[in-house]
Amino acid sequence: MNEEQRLASQQIKQPKEEKDYSKYFEKVFTAPSLKDAKKRGKEEVKYHKDFDIEEKYLGMGQDRKFYIRTYGCQMNEHDTEVMAGIFMQLGYTPTEMIEEADVVLLNTCAIRENAENKVFGELGFLLKYKRKNPEMLIGVCGCMSQEESVVNKILKQYQHVDMVFGTHNIHRLPNILHDAYMSKEMVVEVWSKEGDVIENLPKKRIGSIKAWVNIMYGCDKFCTYCIVPYTRGKERSRRPEEIIQEVRELAAQGYKEIMLLGQNVNAYGKDFDDIEYRLGDLMDELRKIDIPRIRFTTSHPRDFDDHLIKVLAKGGNLVDHIHLPVQSGSNEILKIMARKYTREHFLQLVDKIKAAIPGVTLTTDIIVGYPNETEEQFQETLDLYRQVGFDMAFTYIYSPREGTPAAKMVDNVTEEEKKDRLHRLNAVVSEYSAKALKGLEGQTVEVLVEGSSKRRDDVLAGYTRKNRLVNFKADPKFIGKLVNVKILEAKSYSLMGEFVEEVTKEGEFVK
Ligand code: SAH
Ligand code: SF4
Ligand code: F3S
Repeated sequence: MNEEQRLASQQIKQPKEEKDYSKYFEKVFTAPSLKDAKKRGKEEVKYHKDFDIEEKYLGMGQDRKFYIRTYGCQMNEHDTEVMAGIFMQLGYTPTEMIEEADVVLLNTCAIRENAENKVFGELGFLLKYKRKNPEMLIGVCGCMSQEESVVNKILKQYQHVDMVFGTHNIHRLPNILHDAYMSKEMVVEVWSKEGDVIENLPKKRIGSIKAWVNIMYGCDKFCTYCIVPYTRGKERSRRPEEIIQEVRELAAQGYKEIMLLGQNVNAYGKDFDDIEYRLGDLMDELRKIDIPRIRFTTSHPRDFDDHLIKVLAKGGNLVDHIHLPVQSGSNEILKIMARKYTREHFLQLVDKIKAAIPGVTLTTDIIVGYPNETEEQFQETLDLYRQVGFDMAFTYIYSPREGTPAAKMVDNVTEEEKKDRLHRLNAVVSEYSAKALKGLEGQTVEVLVEGSSKRRDDVLAGYTRKNRLVNFKADPKFIGKLVNVKILEAKSYSLMGEFVEEVTKEGEFVK
């Protein structure tokens, strides 16, 4: 650290001065607007490759520790990796213990009310730590910070929060931290613009076996129940060469599995106006990279085209498991959800996928208790589930999200009825998942070993290509490797097996 950086960091550590910060406060206060977040203009997406931390901030994290708690989806998990990367460039060290952290960030999710309640609960809890250590900075970021009502609530009820910043402001973390150290007021920086693509952000990846790679950001689908298009901005794709390069680097670093991320990966490339390049084209390129497994999430039935199916059918490192959220089996409900496909279209798509990729595993997301959903409409969902024979599903009770069209609908379905539907749906989900697992008894499957059991070093755990959890006994030296395991017994949600051999690229087997 040079003298200038040292001075800058010392300046930051100085106690806060008593003076009028009102002008400064204006500068550090940009609140979100759901109305603005809804706009989809024709403005071009800007690609930035010039992310750089100003020299004056470089010593900021010296002798300081950060802790990030992540809620929500894999995109949020990956954003946490980016923020951790920025913290570490600033000189902070990570800690697993909140009580010893100098900065605590809650990377939040707004998808359902209970996700938000968890965060408010945690914020209340953090007050205890803040009282013990008044120098601790507490920040709220992620999807909840994009909501006006949340920011207002934090301003009113959680004044121990030092900073709130949005999903489009992650690259501004050094400036936001600096402002929070300097300002007596809460720093709020949430942009509601449509969003750019920033390429060269640092990342501190959590694992060394599986890696997340963003292929696109945002969502333009505006399903009537969903908050994501407001919290994540418009659909914008990363350029193919950037993604291919990142996957190649991860393969060279020894990663075994890549999860491509986007709220609606099937819309990948739709926003390019200079090239005709879609998800099928991208997968066809990634297929050639020497890495054992490539997955993607989440796909929307609407943009799932034939070319993509053809490419996925080539197999190789493209896994035969597709997560395809259907949400409902009723045409009336799908219509008011604005999913823009019908039950028949969905079933046709499933038939096409099954015909092209024999033995493919399909999983899904379902919402029950949509406003005014009838028992018959719910039965249509159960019926569709059986017809497709999904392997597994994430199931939810509809949760009204302020600012979305569905939140304004008058709802005549009681909470009790909604819970009962969820319960009945989950029984069908369990039945099918148990059946799928049972069918594997006696078979040998390929497992990517991720770690060992907390209690016993020699009990290893990993996932199959179809994402089923397998436990088996073997030497911990196989962690991070692909192995064949013979399935002995199907449990409710996982499989018990017996180690057979390591799967090596050269075709040799290690026992
Ligand atoms: N982009 C993905 C879904 C992301 S959100 C897609 O369209 O498939 C993950 C899941 O949360 C959704 O598939 C949906 O089932 C559920 N979900 C979203 N908004 C919800 C709400 N308001 N109430 C209940 N569940 C919701
Ligand atoms: Fe939400 Fe629909 Fe977009 Fe998925 S596709 S993120 S459910 S608006
Ligand atoms: Fe939640 Fe935002 Fe993901 S609302 S599900 S964290 S995109």
